[in-house]
Amino acid sequence: MITVVGAGKVGSSAAFNILRFGVSNVVLLDVVENLARGEAYDMMQAQPAIEFDGKIVGTKDFSQMVDSEVVIIAAGKARKPGISRLDLVNKNVKIVRSIVREVVKYAPCCKLMIVTNPVDIMTHVAYKESGFDRKHVFGMGNILDTMRFRSYIATELGVSREDIRALVIGEHGDSMVPLVRYSSVSGIPVTELLDEKEIKKIVDLTKSSGADVISLKGSTTFAPSVVIAIMADAVVRGRNRVMGVSTHLQGEYGFSDVTIGVPVILGKNGVEKIIELKLDPGTKAHFKESVSVLKKTMAKLNL
Ligand code: 2OP
Repeated sequence: MITVVGAGKVGSSAAFNILRFGVSNVVLLDVVENLARGEAYDMMQAQPAIEFDGKIVGTKDFSQMVDSEVVIIAAGKARKPGISRLDLVNKNVKIVRSIVREVVKYAPCCKLMIVTNPVDIMTHVAYKESGFDRKHVFGMGNILDTMRFRSYIATELGVSREDIRALVIGEHGDSMVPLVRYSSVSGIPVTELLDEKEIKKIVDLTKSSGADVISLKGSTTFAPSVVIAIMADAVVRGRNRVMGVSTHLQGEYGFSDVTIGVPVILGKNGVEKIIELKLDPGTKAHFKESVSVLKKTMAKLNL
């Protein structure tokens, strides 16, 4: 069973994608009276069309998450136009901490996926608060950035998105590091298909993509929620997918006591392995900058 905490747009849409992909039964939890129940009924009524008999329950009762295999925290204040992910930090630390305490009580063996922004900081907070093994606490960020990167490469080239492979690491935020060198079209390095100017345009679009959508419609929903379901699927079915995930570093990439996006193998035990890439000096410097952005914010929080 998977529990999604937070029945806002992202949380409820993630719950629906988890059902649509036939991954698992879902408990959708929200402290707002009736919100999760309403969303769950709505999804249940769609189920004959999606041909998945998994159960969806909406509730405000945390005890219903008992023994969940995966708990996804998507609750908290959302980004608004003009507000960076880091601005949200103080409000959301409190919310995430209080939810994590419930998770420890009712689902101490779960894999805990954090979605609440700023996600790298919130994943760090959740890791510390839970006392869980670091493998079991991870954040959704870079895989969403990667989807956006892939979409823009495909659009620029006019080819199928399916044929694009790419990777983004670092903060899920303004200092993210799209890895051009590790991006390809059916194995062909993108550097052979696009010139420097085109690549720069795509990298810039990738970095601003979340904020661009927020400034147009107030929030992002479809992209994050489908990515959450993909990550949940990787864990529940033990698929060992390789993707950028926010993970607590203990010496990897030369950094400790920071939680940031790096490529990992995501499977049954959560982060099965951190993949350490040999970054070129320029990329290393960008990654270091991303680490220091996060460390500065965390220092202010006294974590
Ligand atoms: C996003 O990038 C808001 O972090 C969220 O869509």
